[in-house]
Amino acid sequence: MLASNLIRIGVVIALVGLAAGIGMGIADDFRLAPAHAHLNLVGFVTLFLAGLYYAVVPEAAETTLAKIQGVAAVAGAVLFPTGISLVVMIGPQFVPVAIAGALIVFLGMALLAWIVFRFGVPLLKRPV
Ligand code: HEM
Repeated sequence: MLASNLIRIGVVIALVGLAAGIGMGIADDFRLAPAHAHLNLVGFVTLFLAGLYYAVVPEAAETTLAKIQGVAAVAGAVLFPTGISLVVMIGPQFVPVAIAGALIVFLGMALLAWIVFRFGVPLLKRPV
């Protein structure tokens, strides 16, 4: 469930990120390029890869820590590009939103790192 949720949310975020890229091109206004880049990379790539990991290592996905990791990863993937967009389009008063998003992204990745080191990749013949 966690695996498929992360993969589904990742592809939805990818569609938003790609639409933002197309929109920038049509409008000939590239101010949102950093938000577009982080939607695609932190949103799509990171969530999709975490989902694939949980699909390959289902025992990791069943832990409470993995569920917290998934919530943090999704929250950060939405909040960080939102904060970047608000700073770029409105002003620096929204820097704290971007910083909060970045810290939540970091928390999600730190939890994923712990989980990956704890469970490894059991399907591989030689442990990594
Ligand atoms: C429909 C597909 C896409 C379109 C139309 C698109 C469009 C754009 C545009 C217009 C820019 C700004 C270029 C500039 O500032 O001169 C850009 C930058 C960027 N895009 Fe995309 N993009 C697409 C897909 C992707 C994907 C799939 C990724 C990553 C997984 C990605 C990552 C980036 C990055 C890292 C930048 C540089 C951001 C920066 O300079 O701040 N893009 N893209």
